[in-house]
Amino acid sequence: MKIVSYSIREDEMPALNAWKQEHPEVDVQIEQDLLTPQTAKKAQGADGVVVYQQAPYDRATLQALHDAGIKNMSLRNVGTDNIDMEAAKELGLKITNVRVYSPNAIAEHAAWLMGRLLRREPEYTDKIQKRDLRWAPEIGREMRMQTVGIIGTGHIGRVLIDILKGFGAKVICYDIFQNPELKAEGLYVDSLDDLYSQADIISLHVPSVKENIHMVNDTSIAKMKKGVIIINVSRGDLVDTDALIRGLDSGKVAGAGLDVYEDEVGIFNEDWNGRPFPDERLNNLLERKDVIVTPHTAFYTETAVENMVNISHNDNIKLINGQEPDNPVSLD
Ligand code: COI
Repeated sequence: MKIVSYSIREDEMPALNAWKQEHPEVDVQIEQDLLTPQTAKKAQGADGVVVYQQAPYDRATLQALHDAGIKNMSLRNVGTDNIDMEAAKELGLKITNVRVYSPNAIAEHAAWLMGRLLRREPEYTDKIQKRDLRWAPEIGREMRMQTVGIIGTGHIGRVLIDILKGFGAKVICYDIFQNPELKAEGLYVDSLDDLYSQADIISLHVPSVKENIHMVNDTSIAKMKKGVIIINVSRGDLVDTDALIRGLDSGKVAGAGLDVYEDEVGIFNEDWNGRPFPDERLNNLLERKDVIVTPHTAFYTETAVENMVNISHNDNIKLINGQEPDNPVSLD
């Protein structure tokens, strides 16, 4: 059995080497390239591919995989918003993702972003670098005094709720799929509008499906409390960046913690040091003292990376053997 694993990073190698040792029956061809119509040819003769990238798996790429005889594709990540599902279905591709690799990695990151913004860390860091060691005027806010609105109560949202409860925050939630335990605790509000009007901090944990795109926009920001902090560690296109900047400029939004950005593909996970920075709007966010941007690193922990490698390769074997995978992706 042969699997071609695309865009393997150095930091994934320890987990992949360990996995290979446990699966001597599998010939794993390691590629550093992304999967593209050109590199798809490298999979000729293999039984499956394991991939991770943010660049689109468009029709041309999937067609090239199909032409190379590949029917089984396993993502090492959770998001499937970059896949042309119609093409995948037409080409008879079977796909898996990694639904849960470490909810804690992402929930903790969201909590750190909240804490850093509440204690005005970017402003203090700037002052401290200039050796201005005065306290005022950057007075902080305590987590236990905040009402935190969690939109989306899947695995990540639920871990975040537990973390925030530990700090003593009041948590309210909204989800179209209500978790029975959270419901029994009375954590759900009836509508997004209710959440917007009550929350001091709003944290997004929903997928990038069409109903959610730009859910943070001028209209929703107008419904939020003055001084709200917005956290997005999910998908960049959940937030209308121009509306967010308007909200920050007007003072309605006190801060934003962004691990994702709507135009991040091709910009994040690149070194721009000494090169012209390609995105003015992102530059605005990076320079602000009321915004913390991290380049889609919420997932990036030793635990998560190991799980992503193991779960994706295990599921690729299951697809190849015609077994039911643990994380099938519905193409409908
Ligand atoms: C995902 O799993 O879809 C993510 O967003 C993390 C990715 C950058 C590996």
